[in-house]
Amino acid sequence: MSDVKPFVLDFDLVSGFCTSGKVKPTQRRVSDMVAQFANETAARAMVEGGDPLLYEFYGLDLPEDDSGVLQFGTTILYPGKVGEEYFMTKGHFHTILDTSEIYYGLSGHGMMLMETPEGQVDWKEIGPGEALYVPGRWAHRSINTGTEPLVMFFVYRGDAGHDYGTIEEKGYRKLVVERDGKPAVIDNPKW
Ligand code: F6R
Ligand code: ZN
Repeated sequence: MSDVKPFVLDFDLVSGFCTSGKVKPTQRRVSDMVAQFANETAARAMVEGGDPLLYEFYGLDLPEDDSGVLQFGTTILYPGKVGEEYFMTKGHFHTILDTSEIYYGLSGHGMMLMETPEGQVDWKEIGPGEALYVPGRWAHRSINTGTEPLVMFFVYRGDAGHDYGTIEEKGYRKLVVERDGKPAVIDNPKW
């Protein structure tokens, strides 16, 4: 068991930021995930046009080898599109595949796109006051389908680990795009 002492952290309920600055978020820009967008040409043009920030998320300095630890924080995913595809997170499986995760919507509106290695696919809308359970084995990607930042609090087993490689190589089976001004889930033509 790790020797972590009790502590308190502040996360603003609307912005999602730790306003005291006790912890700093990791930032991901379009340049960090050009190949993950269906329209890579549009992504490259956005990189050249200023490389916008897609999202930021907190990871705490907690032991990563202890199944008793809970990792937690917020994800702040900005609104926008690359081509017709909404801004999204990279998405990942957990390295310990059967570890689950809880997300709780604080502000903004979006979707969690999920799939299993066996090819089951699901997506759920998430907004303020809604708790979303991502079961073990399900890769998860957050997508901002709204016009405000999508802010969610998350908790998962601290030793779960992140497998980004599988998603980076193959992408998701589905994409979330804007069609007629509304979100639509379509097949990924690259899959
Ligand atoms: C942790 C988790 C979230 C994401 C965050 C950023 O297991 O699911 O904290 O890490 O939303 O997304 P990724 O990690 O896919 O870049
Ligand atoms: Zn996760």
